[in-house]
Amino acid sequence: MTARYQPDPIMRVRGNPAHPSTIPSKRPTTAELLTPADVRDSADLARLLDQLGCGDDLIVVSNRAPCIHSRSDAGIVAQRPAGGLVTALEAVLSKEGGCWIAHGSGSADRETCDAADHVLRQHLDAPYRLRRLWLSDAEVAGYYDGLANEALWPLCHRTDVQPTFRQADWDEYVRVNQRFADAVVSEAASPRPVVLVQDYHLALVPQMVRAQLPDAVIILFWHIPFPEPKVLARFPWREQMMAGLSASTVVGLHTPADLANFSMSRASSHGAGGGAHAGAYPISIAWPARQDAPDPSLRARIDARFGIAPGVRLLVGVDRMDYTKGIPQRLQAFERLLEQRPELRGQVTLLQIGAPCRGALPAYREIARQVAESSARINARFGRAGWQPVVLHAASLDAHAVNECYRAADVCLVTSLHDGMNLVAKEFVAARNDLRGALVLSSQAGAAAELQQALIVDPRDIEGIARAIGRALDMPLDEQALRMRAMRGVVSQFTVFRWAAQLLSDGLRIAAGRRERRLLG
Ligand code: G6P
Repeated sequence: MTARYQPDPIMRVRGNPAHPSTIPSKRPTTAELLTPADVRDSADLARLLDQLGCGDDLIVVSNRAPCIHSRSDAGIVAQRPAGGLVTALEAVLSKEGGCWIAHGSGSADRETCDAADHVLRQHLDAPYRLRRLWLSDAEVAGYYDGLANEALWPLCHRTDVQPTFRQADWDEYVRVNQRFADAVVSEAASPRPVVLVQDYHLALVPQMVRAQLPDAVIILFWHIPFPEPKVLARFPWREQMMAGLSASTVVGLHTPADLANFSMSRASSHGAGGGAHAGAYPISIAWPARQDAPDPSLRARIDARFGIAPGVRLLVGVDRMDYTKGIPQRLQAFERLLEQRPELRGQVTLLQIGAPCRGALPAYREIARQVAESSARINARFGRAGWQPVVLHAASLDAHAVNECYRAADVCLVTSLHDGMNLVAKEFVAARNDLRGALVLSSQAGAAAELQQALIVDPRDIEGIARAIGRALDMPLDEQALRMRAMRGVVSQFTVFRWAAQLLSDGLRIAAGRRERRLLG
């Protein structure tokens, strides 16, 4: 028997500490002026941008492209990542005139472009221009694999993998950032474009664009955690990086802790004289426009697809195969639970989706090996005819299939050792309009500040995670519904469109204020 559910004290508190300035607002009529807090969807965002007088000289710049073309036996195939970020940035670029600049990495990317490296209209179903930048193997190895993923990624996340600093990687990073910045300048239609720079791959782009377009509105969003000053101090090129970032109009980070880390490093940095406004802007997802009806055949489909025993309870983990995601710890915790509660043997399966990524790097090959090995060990130890405790799907799934996994799950496990936000947690909540299912969430994911009705765990505390999984499996339906309803309230209100609206309105307001002050002398 489980104790009757008592709401956590926080659930009785109005508002959410991750969004301290939240004022509940009524929906404005079409004639009324919107504020970023009114923005829920792409139509609201487009309306707000019109009201702010944001023209159509808008440029998004990111390493990864929103559309990648590959050659297959069936001809040219377009791959379009379906995440909330791409949806929101595409909404920002919804007017003719916008441009997205990104690395062209697909095997058919060149043949789908014109002579100016813009994707041909017939290959891109979007109103903006997609400009591809070609990188040589040496540039990818130095800028992306080396500096971005072997130096900055482990530096910014608290994990067991040590960062590697190589001068040659940094030199390549500087050169490639300059190439992205030059592309921004060549695509800008006016001296005052609005430039949205994405992530740690492009930290120097704001300063490099500013040098050529001093009046540009430059908004950089840092999508991963920002390290504490004593950690950043190990980065040999921190002064150059802080100067690069600080030339932005706005630097966006996920959480107040990331913002504090950035501000402290900037205060002690000699090169970071730029006047960037820094703020916490927790990223989110696009709230589904259509709420799916319950599908009685869903679970049978999932069971057949992944080879899961019918009738068992289902735990789901959906991650990139990354050492920051705490997948080995999650497996250990599940093993511990099966040791401690023999009655669960044969009754519960963990379906772990692990999308391969960054396979050129040894640390990524090693984590994939470890996860496969632990899964096999647990299966050998506890599995029996007709029941496999761990089902590892070490491949990508499309967004529809991921959504089906969320909807079929009894429990979703997010146990990252450290994560900027973690959108899997928010996607799971958005998928559960049936108000069923429990979320086990790492205290080290940015999402934990908003999703306080999850079962929050320390991702290194194996016993604690095992207890939380057990508690999630035992959770009565009324408690599941109460927690899920509260989390859905937060995610439905703070969508990725509202995130984009807040960043853009702050950027435009700050840039206008500066122009005015300059004009007034
Ligand atoms: C994760 C991070 C993003 C980053 C992306 C790069 O999703 O949260 O901040 O931009 O990885 O992934 P990639 O596969 O392009 O290296």
